[in-house]
Amino acid sequence: MKAVEEQTSNALSNAVHQKKCMFYHKKRLQYFTKPDKPDPVYAKQLQELIGGPFGEMTVMMQYLLQGWNCRGPAKYKDMMLDIGTEEIGHVEMLANMIAHLVDKAPADVQEKSAMDPIVEGVLGGMKTEDIIMSSMNPKHAIVTGGGALPADSTGYPWNGNYVVASGNLMADFYSNVQAEAQGRLQAIRLYEMSTDPGVKDTLSYMIARDTMHQNQWLAAIEELKADGLEEMPVPSQFPRSQEKQDVSYQFWNLSEGTDSNQGRWAKGPSPDGKGEFEYLENPEPQGPEGEAPIPNPKLYSTPKQPLKVKQ
Ligand SMILES: [Fe+2]
Repeated sequence: MKAVEEQTSNALSNAVHQKKCMFYHKKRLQYFTKPDKPDPVYAKQLQELIGGPFGEMTVMMQYLLQGWNCRGPAKYKDMMLDIGTEEIGHVEMLANMIAHLVDKAPADVQEKSAMDPIVEGVLGGMKTEDIIMSSMNPKHAIVTGGGALPADSTGYPWNGNYVVASGNLMADFYSNVQAEAQGRLQAIRLYEMSTDPGVKDTLSYMIARDTMHQNQWLAAIEELKADGLEEMPVPSQFPRSQEKQDVSYQFWNLSEGTDSNQGRWAKGPSPDGKGEFEYLENPEPQGPEGEAPIPNPKLYSTPKQPLKVKQ
């Protein structure tokens, strides 16, 4: 009886604690199926989905920062923080997958995998350092001890310059659609590169979430327009009278041939509904010849003529 009471009171204090916390980690992954066997080379490739320019770390930081910086209606802020938090979970799923893929193969798997050149190398007595250098990312062994890295598939570290968070929701939502499109494309390429049912099952879940997220951002773009907050071209609040509107809808043909006049962008109404496309087959430059001013002598750039500098 006492144990039951204790359990109940623990559960209650946990629930109160969860409500009070800004971020609260749950032990369960959003989704996960274990890979059938280790594959450290594939683990190296899968790093692209964690720390590449369009990986989960990028979208996680991008949506969270966009949410934290949001000054618009609460529904947008809340939505961005929902999806940003989900992306933390995606980094976690992939980190977990990489740990399984880098992990040592049990003996029976080693036998079955004897055809695999890497495992064959291990079994055949190749020097460990040679196997490491020619196959897996050595950092998975040396630096992380079998864990994921905040880096892409070539080991290039993730960096904050990948993140787009401008404060203009329309500009950001278009970035988000393209991040999800690139991310889904790369996840599908990695899906095709694997034969492991566990890897494929986990990736098929992530691919489905990318489908939702592409649609979510497209819906958010429509919502911004419906709310009258933003429209095309972004930013729509800038007075059009201050841009040179005679060139706003001109297509400049600046390469050999005129195949480009076949497209939707060459004629007819523009997608923003505010102009009519015009195709310039032989456009002429409208400015003067470009010329940089005489350099500041203290910067020591080479001038056209020798500069008289006081000695
Ligand atoms: Fe994701």
